[in-house]
Amino acid sequence: MSANPQTLFVQHFWKDSNRTLDYYLKEMNGYEAARKVLGSMAPDQVVEEVKKANIRGRGGAGFPMGMKWSFIPKNSEKPKYLVCNADESEPGTCKDRQIIRYTPHLLIEGLLIGSFAIGCKHAYVYIRGEYVREAQLLEEAIEEARAKGYLGKDIFGSGFDLEITVHRGAGAYICGEETGLLNSLEGKRGEPRVKPPFPAVSGAFSCPTAVNNVESIANVPHIIRLGGEVFAKLGRIDKSGGTRLISLSGHVNRPGVYEVAAGSMTLRQIIDDLGGGVWKGKKLKAVIPGGSSSPVLTADEIDAVYDVEPLMKIGTMMGSAAIMVIDEDTDLVKLLLRITKFYAHESCGQCTPCREGCHWMESLLHKVIHGEAKPADIDLLVDVAGNIGGKTLCALGDAAAMPVQSFVKKFRSEFDAYVKGQSRHA
Ligand SMILES: Cc1cc2nc3c(=O)[nH]c(=O)nc-3n(C[C@H](O)[C@H](O)[C@H](O)COP(=O)(O)O)c2cc1C
Repeated sequence: MSANPQTLFVQHFWKDSNRTLDYYLKEMNGYEAARKVLGSMAPDQVVEEVKKANIRGRGGAGFPMGMKWSFIPKNSEKPKYLVCNADESEPGTCKDRQIIRYTPHLLIEGLLIGSFAIGCKHAYVYIRGEYVREAQLLEEAIEEARAKGYLGKDIFGSGFDLEITVHRGAGAYICGEETGLLNSLEGKRGEPRVKPPFPAVSGAFSCPTAVNNVESIANVPHIIRLGGEVFAKLGRIDKSGGTRLISLSGHVNRPGVYEVAAGSMTLRQIIDDLGGGVWKGKKLKAVIPGGSSSPVLTADEIDAVYDVEPLMKIGTMMGSAAIMVIDEDTDLVKLLLRITKFYAHESCGQCTPCREGCHWMESLLHKVIHGEAKPADIDLLVDVAGNIGGKTLCALGDAAAMPVQSFVKKFRSEFDAYVKGQSRHA
């Protein structure tokens, strides 16, 4: 499927003609992994292979995928569902879009294998409303697969049936949160649910459900093809198998979607070697390493290996692997306001700390930027963030609080300069 086993995806990106079933069958051994699974493996064996692969979910939380699938109760009489999260709404993230645009059959084959593994006969792809073209392309690919008998009844003569429905969202960040997504899929308001029960026990239509990110599911054919152990070894760090698609954006010479063996590069190497360094010959000021909700890093913290655990060790997170590079001339207070506005706008309003706190943080940042804040207001800002994080039903509250806490902690002088009327950006 791939000349260089360390890149499983990107060599197939960027060319429109690569998205056809014909290309997938000829160039990527398309549907051979599913044929093998349906023809010769038991569902439990598939789950075991995924466990061996050490693949962490690619949607943000990094939960081990095989373990998630093993939580789906086998003896339940209810239907089971595999729901693919294609909401891709964390700012800075644009990798799932590439998978859907250029390798949609990888996702469909992953859904086929995953559905077989957990006993699902009807899988859903919940795709963000803005991805109009991508939803169309995915529908077309599903039709191609169905016409060949790779979906529908008695696939590969195995007796296994599967339908896939693409469900379009309406452009709400909260519908990327898995239980908000499930409510929206059911036609309800996209408000996160109280957990427990977790989706594995009561998910879509109150039935056992695994929710997985696009990249997670699209890796499954690779896992079967390579074998779980080989896939695991692509990663250079324990507990992190495979490769990672990285969305690199901001003040960098070569922004784009890159693929690296998990844990094989430091943040600095990714920015310099893949991204060509900070643009316009400027110095680096800060890096947001895992989507806009991840705690910001200073320029001297980027020698950390880019993977889940090394980033946790330095107080931040890999999230959706969206790296945003920030140059020396950027006004971090205004950037934080922009980020905070996003979360305030996207809060579903269900939990009081998030509904009220996000707007409070936004208005405090407005005061700072307009020279109306007192020194105590910066402390108040951090205090409000502290009263949101960990106090809401879903992690949107944390997503809003973490940037505020980390920007103020690491770049306090920029906030103080505004308060003193001395900011060079004012
Ligand atoms: C506010 C919020 C937004 C999220 N948005 C997305 C998203 O757009 N795509 C995604 O895959 N996961 C998103 N997640 C994470 C999902 O809740 C869930 O953990 C993920 O879909 C599980 O898939 P994985 O285990 O394959 O990573 C979001 C979480 C939160 C709290």
